[in-house]
Amino acid sequence: MKGTALLLLVPGALAIQLPFELPSFFKSKQAVINVVEETPGVTSRVAIIGAGAGGSSAAFWIGKAKERFGIDVEVDVYDKEAYIGGRSTTVYPYNDSSLPEIELGASIFVRPNKNLWRATDEFNLTRRSFKDEDYDNGIWDGETFLLTFKGGWWDTLKILWRYGINAPRRTDSAVQAMIKSYLSLYSKDGLHWEKVEDVSSSLGFETLTSSTTSEYLLTQGVSSSYIHEVVEAATRVNYGQDVDIIHALEGACSMAADHAAGVVGGNFQLFEQFLKRSGANVFLKTPVTSVTPKGHQWTVKSSRGSHTYKAVILAAPFHQTLIAVPEAISTQIPAQPYVNLHVTLLTTTSQYPNASYFGLPDGTVIPQSILTSRVNARKGGKEPEFNSLSYLRSVRDGEWAVKIFSAEPPSDEWLDTVFSGNVGWVYRKLWKAYPKLPPTSVFPPVKLDHGFYYVNSFEPYVFSYLSVPPPSPQPPHPSHVSSNSPFISTMETETISSRNIVDLLLNDQFKTSLCGPRISGGENTTSDDSDSIYGWDC
Ligand SMILES: Cc1cc2nc3c(=O)[nH]c(=O)nc-3n(C[C@H](O)[C@H](O)[C@H](O)COP(=O)(O)OP(=O)(O)OC[C@H]3O[C@@H](n4cnc5c(N)ncnc54)[C@H](O)[C@@H]3O)c2cc1C
Ligand SMILES: *[C@@H]1O[C@H](CO)[C@@H](O)[C@H](O)[C@H]1NC(C)=O
Ligand SMILES: *[C@@H]1O[C@H](CO)[C@@H](O)[C@H](O)[C@H]1NC(C)=O
Ligand SMILES: *[C@@H]1O[C@H](CO)[C@@H](O)[C@H](O)[C@H]1NC(C)=O
Ligand SMILES: *[C@@H]1O[C@H](CO)[C@@H](O)[C@H](O)[C@H]1NC(C)=O
Repeated sequence: MKGTALLLLVPGALAIQLPFELPSFFKSKQAVINVVEETPGVTSRVAIIGAGAGGSSAAFWIGKAKERFGIDVEVDVYDKEAYIGGRSTTVYPYNDSSLPEIELGASIFVRPNKNLWRATDEFNLTRRSFKDEDYDNGIWDGETFLLTFKGGWWDTLKILWRYGINAPRRTDSAVQAMIKSYLSLYSKDGLHWEKVEDVSSSLGFETLTSSTTSEYLLTQGVSSSYIHEVVEAATRVNYGQDVDIIHALEGACSMAADHAAGVVGGNFQLFEQFLKRSGANVFLKTPVTSVTPKGHQWTVKSSRGSHTYKAVILAAPFHQTLIAVPEAISTQIPAQPYVNLHVTLLTTTSQYPNASYFGLPDGTVIPQSILTSRVNARKGGKEPEFNSLSYLRSVRDGEWAVKIFSAEPPSDEWLDTVFSGNVGWVYRKLWKAYPKLPPTSVFPPVKLDHGFYYVNSFEPYVFSYLSVPPPSPQPPHPSHVSSNSPFISTMETETISSRNIVDLLLNDQFKTSLCGPRISGGENTTSDDSDSIYGWDC
């Protein structure tokens, strides 16, 4: 029996019959209910590798369980970098902290991203909302602007005759249907999975995920020009990839942009707060080099030596960590290429990009927010030399910050041309930004072994099938652009994956769940728009 087997693994464990039932999710797997408790004084230790969105939220969820049920667990978080946040981090123009910070990685999340939204509220952080107003936008194809306009992206696009009046509405309804399914991830009973493959059927996403964006939208009656010029501009900036090769769901996601927000001072503060409130020990500048079994426990080797843990949570893309693990584990994790995305931040005293670079007469006002399309390249024309180029905000009088996403690093000469020789500060970063598409249908295990869990198993899934949000240029403050942000933030989905994993860990190791062993028949299912959020509210 599972309960008994578990006892053998835990020195000094006691079996206790609970006076109440476990949640139905756990019931199905285990008829006999035991609780495993450490002998007082024998604290269980859990290691978390990675202090980004995934690892910091994993610590936070464990902290919640500790607070609620007094489980005796001590958490150590390791990160090789000197900062908390991973792919969510900021820099200052000229490295001058009196100037406004700029997000170098993840910038946007949206209202349906309930964990992050709730966290900003509870942590007293201030959200900066991205409104669509009064901004020059354009879609550039490498040789000409397909269109330019002032004001918010999608509202304006909705009335553009050239795409056929129905196109945007049809795209919207696909998005609305997805958002509804997506919200079930937060319902009272949560959504749990031991295999990422199980998520699609739970969410009812199969039809959307079986076709590319263009195939799907065409069957929905959306015009081809709308897809290739407009939807693609959004997918290129969000995914760095084109509409024909990515799945419908993602394409649709790039189009949803309600209530886009970021945290004033930097999104990384969410992750700092997760860790602070978790009570975990945080070891920065401490790369982990191996994770090896030791009896029924795990030894984590790092620059602070070797330490033994009852459970390990890996919260970074495995192949990038260079962590040695037993072959039986590494062979289960398929190679997962990530997109190399060049992010270039700069400041310029040119209020607009150089018109003549864009083939227009001197003095023409060039949009300050430019997305791109490959519609021209597909016909054999010139390719756009960047994915997106956005003026963010004024950093001081007469000087603006600009963010460029591109597949290749722009040269200094190129920057000089585009900004008419008026470039001040330049900061370049090459990210392994997000999983490359199209995806394989083979996903890594959520549980790599007993007591060894993998948060980023969900990342290729999210990018392949759920949606992807990434590189949305950060809109300027206080008024601006945006809008091409997708509705599912991957910072957010990392917090959902970590929640699932912490529930599995609590069940495996402590015979409880994040919301405790509780009576749950599913009779009172939470409605989609409920304010209650699984994990925060039990
Ligand atoms: C340019 C860009 C723009 C983006 N825009 C958005 C956006 O607008 N909205 C959004 O939601 N998402 C966006 N994303 C994606 C988002 O940043 C990621 O999905 C998310 O931050 C991933 O979090 P994570 O915790 O899973 O991984 P990471 O943030 O990568 O964290 C992993 C951590 O593990 C550490 N680590 C790795 N190896 C080791 C080791 N051996 N030992 C110890 N520590 C180790 C790393 O240092 C890192 O801190 C963007 C990403 C990029 C690059
Ligand atoms: C930026 O400034 C900080 C604090 O003043 C300093 O520690 C750091 O080394 C600087 N970084 C660079 C790249 O100059
Ligand atoms: C958040 O701010 C409110 C009002 O200023 C205050 O009452 C509350 O204690 C703060 N909460 C935290 C967690 O700092
Ligand atoms: C503007 O762009 C044109 C064409 O690329 C280039 O020749 C010119 O030097 C640029 N202007 C400035 C001031 O750099
Ligand atoms: C379900 O909801 C009803 C009505 O709100 C309430 O009376 C009942 O106690 C709830 N049952 C459970 C198991 O929470």
